[in-house]
Amino acid sequence: MIKFFDIFKNDKILHSRIINDIKKTFKKGDFIQGEHTKSFEKNFSKFVNAKYSVGCANGTDALILALKSLELPINSEVILPSMTYCSTIFAVIQSNLKPVLVDIGLNSPTIDINKINRNITKKTKVILPVHLYGSAINIDLIKKILKKHKQKIFIIDDCAQAHGALDDKKKNIGSTSDISCFSLYPGKNLGAYGDAGIITTNNINHYKKIKNLGNLGSDQKFIHTNVGLNSRLDSIQAIILNAKLTKLNSSNKKRRIIANTYDKYINNKKIIKLSYSKYAVYHQYVIKSKNRSKLIKILKKKNIQYGFHYPFSINQLHAVRKIFKKKKFRNSEILAAQGISLPIDPNLKKKQINKIIQVVNNF
Ligand SMILES: Cc1ncc(COP(=O)(O)O)c(C=O)c1O
Repeated sequence: MIKFFDIFKNDKILHSRIINDIKKTFKKGDFIQGEHTKSFEKNFSKFVNAKYSVGCANGTDALILALKSLELPINSEVILPSMTYCSTIFAVIQSNLKPVLVDIGLNSPTIDINKINRNITKKTKVILPVHLYGSAINIDLIKKILKKHKQKIFIIDDCAQAHGALDDKKKNIGSTSDISCFSLYPGKNLGAYGDAGIITTNNINHYKKIKNLGNLGSDQKFIHTNVGLNSRLDSIQAIILNAKLTKLNSSNKKRRIIANTYDKYINNKKIIKLSYSKYAVYHQYVIKSKNRSKLIKILKKKNIQYGFHYPFSINQLHAVRKIFKKKKFRNSEILAAQGISLPIDPNLKKKQINKIIQVVNNF
């Protein structure tokens, strides 16, 4: 069996460090807002080259906290891609804002930047791009587009799949937007052993507001200055994340090597490969095929696990599709119908990678 992603195997080398630190925390008892959370926030800021980080309960909350911190008028418009995880749009709706979808590029996993400008109205307050599959978006290009507009439009990027990614100018994803939101869900490139998330920013006012909102609107015990959320990163998850952060660059490097091998050797005409950014971190390696069901059958037979990211575009999601009526987002819909994610576990052996290539090339 070739597993899609074997967390246990990947982290084995860190288990004793993690258990020792957790035992010490049992004794100390600082489970919430303790030393490990503070040190993880500091370490993560350094890792993404951002001034400030605020840990929170999950990536969905990271987006909600970021959006709420801007105190935008109700129904302000937020531009986001039509192919992403449901959380991106749910966060917009939970924050009483109006989602405006923009399609992804053809054979690209990320928002078509050329289509952003025509979707900007007087009510647009946020652009919310998603570095899907770890492919970095050119945020500078979006900034350039926004310069043409008089009104203030913020950029909040969804970095849930892009820990360690760099843009084409080698700037760290997590340092280039007004606010950046990361999920630390177990299956992510940097994942906790439960739900967790983190927000980064270079702006002290955003930092202070987000920190306050995630702590029930409080900077000081019993003084609640905003109607906030209870969304904090706990000590035990922070211990795990601190340990795993030390290995993130090397595991991302392994992902890149596997992706480059797939790029080079997958040559079946029934497969379309996607174009990723230059310094992507390949949270997922996704290919497209019109014969996807046949490929699935063979992968199953050969005991190779696979995934879908995602089988529905946002305008097709049951919970929100009525908002978009019959509007089409062609490239996203094609990716939903034809996309399949191959294993990209950093610990895959050469033999396993070759087997996957051979199966994909011969169906
Ligand atoms: C693109 C994207 N945004 C947001 C999220 C939400 O993160 P979480 O599951 O930690 O709430 C995810 C997680 O899967 C994601 O992939």
